[in-house]
Amino acid sequence: MAKASQLKALIKSHYDNDYTRFDTLSLQLAAHEATLGHNSLALEVKKLVDKSKESRTPESINSKNIRLYNNTIDELFIHSRPILDMYDIILPRSNQDKILKILSEYNNQEKLKKHGLKHRRKILLSGHPGTGKTMTASVIASELHLPLYVIQIDKIITKFMGETGAKLRQIFKMIEMQKGVYFFDEFDSIGTDRSKDNEVGEMRRVLNSFLQFLENDNSDSLILTATNNISLLDRALFRRFDDILYYDIPTKDEILKLLKLRFQAFTVKFDLSGVLAKASGLSHADIVKSCDDAIKEAIINDKKYISKTSLINNFQIIKESYKKISES
Ligand SMILES: Nc1ncnc2c1ncn2[C@@H]1O[C@H](COP(=O)(O)OP(=O)(O)OP(=O)(O)O)[C@@H](O)[C@H]1O
Ligand SMILES: [Mg+2]
Repeated sequence: MAKASQLKALIKSHYDNDYTRFDTLSLQLAAHEATLGHNSLALEVKKLVDKSKESRTPESINSKNIRLYNNTIDELFIHSRPILDMYDIILPRSNQDKILKILSEYNNQEKLKKHGLKHRRKILLSGHPGTGKTMTASVIASELHLPLYVIQIDKIITKFMGETGAKLRQIFKMIEMQKGVYFFDEFDSIGTDRSKDNEVGEMRRVLNSFLQFLENDNSDSLILTATNNISLLDRALFRRFDDILYYDIPTKDEILKLLKLRFQAFTVKFDLSGVLAKASGLSHADIVKSCDDAIKEAIINDKKYISKTSLINNFQIIKESYKKISES
């Protein structure tokens, strides 16, 4: 017979909606019964657990069901269901191909499994701010009809210094239980070279546990991490990723595609190739913002057309603000 403490823990996990703990305790109970020679009871309990796992819907294991200290894991994620497709993002051919490969391998994961192969799912996105790293995570989630969970890793660290390892364990448990795209943004906060650690060694421990969780993770979820500065990352990280995508500011050709995309619902009476040089050096996000500001101006002033002068002016304002920042 199970110990009173085991039974109490089992009941508590049920009321806490903690499925993982409930499974673990049930299996412990089965193992205990087996050691007493109650093999058929042990087998029945195991079957019940397996059957319940199979029928469990994503809703029944949503993030609220994973408890973390006195809080739910919810506060560590931003959960969304993005709707964006590959046409919404302007990328160099090399990155487009890499994304298509991620999608194709995910969609063919059963075929791959039969040959003992796993679809590529641990991806590092590196590069300049505002060039589409977060957007890539949204596109992948949307194309695969998966929920997107953004993990603000810097927040976890600053808010829970000392508990970060335990938080990561819970996050990876969630990754295993709830299929989705998990995006660790601002990854440099933990991925930083271990030799640059502080005296306390906290970050080294956090990075070591992240590496271990990443390596051990065998779920079907996709794990994406983003950094603005790959040179800060510990080299031990690279071989843990199935692929690395590099992001840079757009080429002239990409700027033109971005402008066409942004203005597709508006009338532009000037030749867009005439403003490319003025946008050169800006990120995709800066260009999108400049376009949106020009569109807003046209709307507010009841103008039928986008003003070329206004667009160029918007590029210039952003360039000047960068100049001021770099001089200060
Ligand atoms: N490659 C792109 N194609 C189309 N639009 C883009 C692209 N990159 C950025 N944008 C626009 O800029 C916005 C911000 O981009 P995003 O958040 O993906 O940048 P990021 O690379 O994650 O930047 P950061 O490093 O600052 O987090 C997007 O929502 C989109 O409107
Ligand atoms: Mg981002």
